[in-house]
Amino acid sequence: MTSLFEEVTPDAPSDVPVRRVSITVNGERRTADIEPRLLLAHMLRQGLNLTGTHTGCDTTNCGACTVLFDGRPVKSCTMLAVQADGHQVTTVEGLATASELHPIQEGFKEEHGLQCGYCTPGMMLTAKALLDENPNPTEDDVRWALSGNLCRCTGYQNIVKAVLWAADKMRNQAD
Ligand code: FES
Ligand code: FES
Repeated sequence: MTSLFEEVTPDAPSDVPVRRVSITVNGERRTADIEPRLLLAHMLRQGLNLTGTHTGCDTTNCGACTVLFDGRPVKSCTMLAVQADGHQVTTVEGLATASELHPIQEGFKEEHGLQCGYCTPGMMLTAKALLDENPNPTEDDVRWALSGNLCRCTGYQNIVKAVLWAADKMRNQAD
């Protein structure tokens, strides 16, 4: 069993109730005893060291913490980790393979879709959910899909271009 908080709360009081959960994260099943109040974002960042999941607002506004939950984008700052028990979670670390970037990551690189990069993991995962459902989105479709993700740097134009670039590449790969 992997203990998610072995390192961060080694001296946790024994009277804190815990619940055993098994969550498949980026294709790997992880099992741990966690406090029911633990947020999914904190479990990913502090428990599993998947720090690509960013937290910007903690109030469901910015989308920096977006991950895929059974393929659908969710804001992990407002979801309890216990709610993910038995489910699949994908973080930005799960997009690339050992040797290749995901086309969405390539698109952000090619179209300069980031500046500071804080919003980027959430943008990419929201884009992935969109392209999995709609491989041929219009610019409006992309803008609508990304409307729950805020970027303080780019003005969005290049982010939209990046997603359309990725859609094009993914369609060509599928042909
Ligand atoms: S940190 Fe979750 S929406 Fe901003
Ligand atoms: S690139 Fe800086 S917040 Fe989006």
